[in-house]
Amino acid sequence: YTREEVARHRSPGDRVWVTHGSDVFDVTDFVELHPGGPDKLLLAAGGALEPFWALYAVHNQPHVLELLREYKVGELSPEDSSPPPGDTRDPFAGDPPRHPALRVNSLKPFNAEPPPELLTQNFLTPNELFFTRNHLPVPSVEPGSYRLRVEGPGGRSLSLSLEELRGRFPKHEVTATLQCAGNRRSEMSRVRPVKGLDWDIGAISTARWGGARLRDVLLHAGFREESPGDGDEWHVCFEGLDADASGIPYGASIPFRRAMSADAEVLLAYEMNGQELPRDHGFPVRVLVPGVVGARSVKWLRSVAVHWQQNDYKGFCPSVDWDSVDFRAAPAIQELPVQSAITEPRPGAAVPAGELTVKGYAWSGGGREVVRV
Ligand code: MTE
Repeated sequence: YTREEVARHRSPGDRVWVTHGSDVFDVTDFVELHPGGPDKLLLAAGGALEPFWALYAVHNQPHVLELLREYKVGELSPEDSSPPPGDTRDPFAGDPPRHPALRVNSLKPFNAEPPPELLTQNFLTPNELFFTRNHLPVPSVEPGSYRLRVEGPGGRSLSLSLEELRGRFPKHEVTATLQCAGNRRSEMSRVRPVKGLDWDIGAISTARWGGARLRDVLLHAGFREESPGDGDEWHVCFEGLDADASGIPYGASIPFRRAMSADAEVLLAYEMNGQELPRDHGFPVRVLVPGVVGARSVKWLRSVAVHWQQNDYKGFCPSVDWDSVDFRAAPAIQELPVQSAITEPRPGAAVPAGELTVKGYAWSGGGREVVRV
């Protein structure tokens, strides 16, 4: 069979086919028997089992393969056993491979979220399933030649290699949830049309992050605890290595006070759940601002500088529309309000009568706790 033929079998009506290695299986009759639930097995329907088994290691046992063997219906044709070569003229051709369970909202640039029922499977979202929000192609960074530029006071600047960032500053770890400002936009659009990617409830994920404290790096660069100027207008500005066609990089900022606060635990992160950062999440270094809208956590970080605040991700009142919007006058979004969603069962699902387990998440920005659900 070709992979295309396998991909046509994605529901019990069309039969449910999966592959493992070069073998093809028809597991329709096993769907209801799947110990993890039929829905979870159907996430892999029409494609390879390996990416799912890599996440849910209970499958890596001999009896599972033995059981699977009963359902074998054929093999992949040899020319279909390896993936097709990428198109080199495509600016996105260098993007990394992704997990097939991700729900893709936009392929180029890549924007995707985990299926709701996998999001609440683990408190820490596995790296492969962590939602991804990219504005541009993923930069390809050679870790040996990577340098982070930190502009210090009085025109002095620092250039740090990855090794220096890891070696010179104590490693700090923090468990934090990142959420995109657009999370649940598809629900909002049912109330009133909103511009932007049509996120469901999964533009939110949690990881254990490790890296140098931004505070330590700023102090090392010559900044002091106090803001370099009066008021709250001084911001620490970050730029990524991803730039648009006119050369303008992705950038965002946070108030100097938050950047310098030991309590705010802002990191220049190089680790995610104990592994080096995946390419989609900012390899080799990203900013991680706990409790603040995801847009400030700049990935593929190339520079840090301290400036006055400029145009940004902003918050508006409901009467503002695209004709009356004034980005300069509006306040910047930093901490997000309380948020919650139900991941299981999904809207419209048929459920058995009687007692029912409902799963979901509740979260609030700025480190504030959720006190009642
Ligand atoms: N940093 C760079 N350099 N480029 C980007 O496109 N997207 C931002 C932020 N940092 C972005 C970026 C947005 S809007 C969000 S919500 C988070 O990254 C998403 O982080 P994630 O893709 O690791 O989930």
